[in-house]
Amino acid sequence: MASHKLNRTTFGDPNNAGNLMSLEEAHSLLNEWVPNERLRLHMKQVAANMKAWAIEKEGADEQTALKWELAGLLHDADWEKYPDDHCRIIIEELERRNIDPDVIRCIASHGPNYFGVEPVSKMDKMIYAIDELSGFIHAAALIRPTRYDGLEPKSVLKRLKTPSFAAQVNREEINDAVSRIDDVSLEGLIQFIIDHQKDIA
Ligand SMILES: [Fe+2]
Repeated sequence: MASHKLNRTTFGDPNNAGNLMSLEEAHSLLNEWVPNERLRLHMKQVAANMKAWAIEKEGADEQTALKWELAGLLHDADWEKYPDDHCRIIIEELERRNIDPDVIRCIASHGPNYFGVEPVSKMDKMIYAIDELSGFIHAAALIRPTRYDGLEPKSVLKRLKTPSFAAQVNREEINDAVSRIDDVSLEGLIQFIIDHQKDIA
């Protein structure tokens, strides 16, 4: 992917704090913008992991958990239709819909090396790490006859050390993302993701 620097530092309007969209609305946006079923699945998996992390690790209330979930669900919404303007289009759409700035900033920071926006909040940092790893773990599961059943972090770690496997996934970014989170190891996060995305269809 080429550089998609957003050249922005603020996202959304602080007056919209607490303005979220329903999951139904988010899913209908996805259905409209993302014909590719695999890409939709990727976003649903990231969303499930984000929501679970918010609730289980951050003690989030329902509204906060929905924020994390929505960021996961929508982070690549513009990727298929607007590859050259990926991230910018969905951000502007969410700004137009007056969505909570935390959600918009989180989406903007899901790829600091591409979009030039550094993750600041825990939600920002988690989407960066989960996005990278979720797709990789799914690829590692798909090549197994039993898929997620019996998939262990150590076999994912081994695949990460095999550069030819899912070669497009940048290992340095995974390490960078995980190093920004102080309460989980790479192995621990892999286990968390396996547990929370294995049943997402
Ligand atoms: Fe993604």
